[in-house]
Amino acid sequence: MHSVFVDAAARDDMRREQLYRGQLFVYSPTPSSLALCEFARSLAQAAFAPLDPETAQHSMPVEEYAALLAELKPRFIHHPQCKEHIRGILRELGCDLSRTYFDVPRMRTATSDAYLTAGLAYAFHPHRDTWYSAPLCQVNWWLPIYEIAPDNAMAFHPRYWSQPVRNGSSEYNYDEWNRQGRKTAATQVKTDTRKQPHAEEPLELDPQIRLIPPVGGLIMFSAAQMHSTVPNTSGRTRFSVDFRTIHIDDVAARRGAPRRAAACAYPS
Ligand SMILES: [Fe+2]
Repeated sequence: MHSVFVDAAARDDMRREQLYRGQLFVYSPTPSSLALCEFARSLAQAAFAPLDPETAQHSMPVEEYAALLAELKPRFIHHPQCKEHIRGILRELGCDLSRTYFDVPRMRTATSDAYLTAGLAYAFHPHRDTWYSAPLCQVNWWLPIYEIAPDNAMAFHPRYWSQPVRNGSSEYNYDEWNRQGRKTAATQVKTDTRKQPHAEEPLELDPQIRLIPPVGGLIMFSAAQMHSTVPNTSGRTRFSVDFRTIHIDDVAARRGAPRRAAACAYPS
């Protein structure tokens, strides 16, 4: 049974308990999530000007597009303003700021019609973040910064919540990824040669859930949730932001989602 909680008033500890059982949470935009979106849009608009970020892919050579993202994304990710907005989001949605830790937010771009699906616009195959060394108590937060539709959203594959999948996580080393993988992202234009954990058996992607929140609306899900980038056929590049949090008490008590076969190397 899978539930989607909408604007739940649940306390954060109850919410995390539900997330660790595979439930999904969706929230309406908050003042800080809207401010984060506005900030992300202003950076994207400045970078693509005079083109519209959502349609720029149709009038730019792909190498130039990848080079532009290589500038834009780190500028967003490491901007101090982002951290302020994330703190605001966590506060507005009832997290305990003294016990909750977050990672820098990533700006993601999913281009349409397979224009650029490698490196900086990597179209994520179905995966659990736990295959990529995420802790079992990691909570993922995802929000669209331009309007999305079912043909440029992200998808959850709920049948795999309780079903293990053979996968390549034993080949994945997070430390190595940080040293090599991120640096080479901008050079991956036609194909992506970076070693990433994949399912090693056929997956049935249906039934799948595509949640379509408005701009600044938030989706929260467990890092153990199977999810993927929907092949974008909308004609518009999808821009989204995601970040992850952990609650330190869950780390200490080893609370989190059940482990379903991940064998990746964690940083020492
Ligand atoms: Fe992911």
